[in-house]
Amino acid sequence: MSVQERTYIMVKPDGVQRGLVGNIISRFEQRGFKLIALKLVHATPEHLEKHYADLKGKPFFPGLIKYMASGPVVAMVWQGLDAVKTGRVMLGATNPLASAPGTIRGDFALAVGRNICHGSDAVESAEKEIALWFPEGVTQYGKDIDTWVFE
Ligand code: TYD
Repeated sequence: MSVQERTYIMVKPDGVQRGLVGNIISRFEQRGFKLIALKLVHATPEHLEKHYADLKGKPFFPGLIKYMASGPVVAMVWQGLDAVKTGRVMLGATNPLASAPGTIRGDFALAVGRNICHGSDAVESAEKEIALWFPEGVTQYGKDIDTWVFE
């Protein structure tokens, strides 16, 4: 666990279509995480198959890829203390029916195949996902970041 820990968080196409991007970003900002990368991407099936490579062979895999390629997603990297595990807690359980109220899925979703958001499940997968979605790299802030709002 480190204050520099980074996680890959993605608003899926249904979250973008339903206008939930701002709400999801606000939750991570308000919790105290630092946004270090952000972009809107309409991903190709090939790219999404790499992202979900571990799930290849699952019965829901073809439908998952089709859904994820159906519209743009918001790809983000958030940094802060215990970002991977805390990010998953903020998202809720994979199946929204099992997600507690107060979590993103618990507040906005019902169907496992339309569960609004993605979050890395381990530090190693976060680093892999960040490299896949942001091959150009992410913002490296200096020590002075928190002084911007003060004169
Ligand atoms: P998974 O990596 O198991 O969950 P998580 O997104 O919480 O890390 O599954 C990836 C996505 O696949 C999941 O967010 C929704 C979809 N999915 C289904 O559509 N049906 C299923 O039965 C499961 C387990 C996942």
